Parts: sequence; structure tokens; C-alpha cells
Amino acid sequence: MPVEVKGEQDVRSFVRTLVKEQGSEKAELIPILHQINHEMGYISDEAIQELSERMQIPASHIFSVATFYRMLSTEPRGRHVIQFCESAPCHVAGGRQVWQSLQKELGLTNGETSADEKWTLITTSCLGVCGIGPVVIVDHDIYGNVTPDQVPTLLKNYD
Ligand code: FES
Repeated sequence: MPVEVKGEQDVRSFVRTLVKEQGSEKAELIPILHQINHEMGYISDEAIQELSERMQIPASHIFSVATFYRMLSTEPRGRHVIQFCESAPCHVAGGRQVWQSLQKELGLTNGETSADEKWTLITTSCLGVCGIGPVVIVDHDIYGNVTPDQVPTLLKNYD
């Protein structure tokens, strides 16, 4: 569950604490970005600015790293993030129909967040569990062998 970090000053002091704890070596950038994303739900502009100042790394570079990894986001996400595996083994196991069902149930497409901020839907490449494809991950819960008609019930598990 993301922590509540409100306001620019809170975000900046949160980032300063992380850099102090983990160090400002360039190799720490990705672990720190993951931690910010995990705790805040996304990586805000303020967080990028503060990281840039503390780690002496251009903000443009931090932004490109943050947008490269699908698990990181520079936009606020919903309370629950649904990752759908779009790689070939899941696709041939029926993934396309599951993807259609997810989009229909949620009224969202790839990368979108619902108006009530409950859901964010994203696609991802192979999650390493192809033997149980199609695979859907909601937050940290992995669902395998998902069928289109299971999607509504699966979504009901989340408040
Ligand atoms: S292809 Fe979907 S988990 Fe590997």
C-alpha cells in the first residue's frame, strides 16, 4: 500500500531520506526509483527534481529511466495495478480473449487509470510463468490459466 506523501516538501524530504539511507552512487538510482514508486505509487516531478539535485544526475536522464521500466510510473496510478502478459506463449494460450475481457470489464485500455482511481491496466512482457498462461497480475497476486469469463469474478476480489 503506498504511503501518503503529500505536498512538494514531503516528497522532497522523503527522497532525501532515501538517498541518505541508500547512498548517492549512480548504481542506486534504479533501486531508489523502485522504492519511490512502491511507496508513493508513482514517481512525481518533485521526486525527480530532488533526486537530480541529490544524486547529481540530470532530471532528463532520471525521467527516461523512470519511463523505460514498465513497473515504474511517472503518472499517478490506481489503487490496484493490473498487469497483463502480452507475450506470445500467453497469447496463444488464449490471452487475446482475456485481454478483451479485461478491457471490457474495466472500460480501460493499456496504460489507462479509471476515473475513480481504483484500477490501472497495463500490459507487460513475459512474467516468467508461461506454463500457466494466460497470466494476469493484480498488485502482487498472480493469476494463471485465466479465462475470459473468470475476469469479472477475479476483479471482485479487490475493494
Ligand atoms: S508469456 Fe506470459 S508469462 Fe511468459
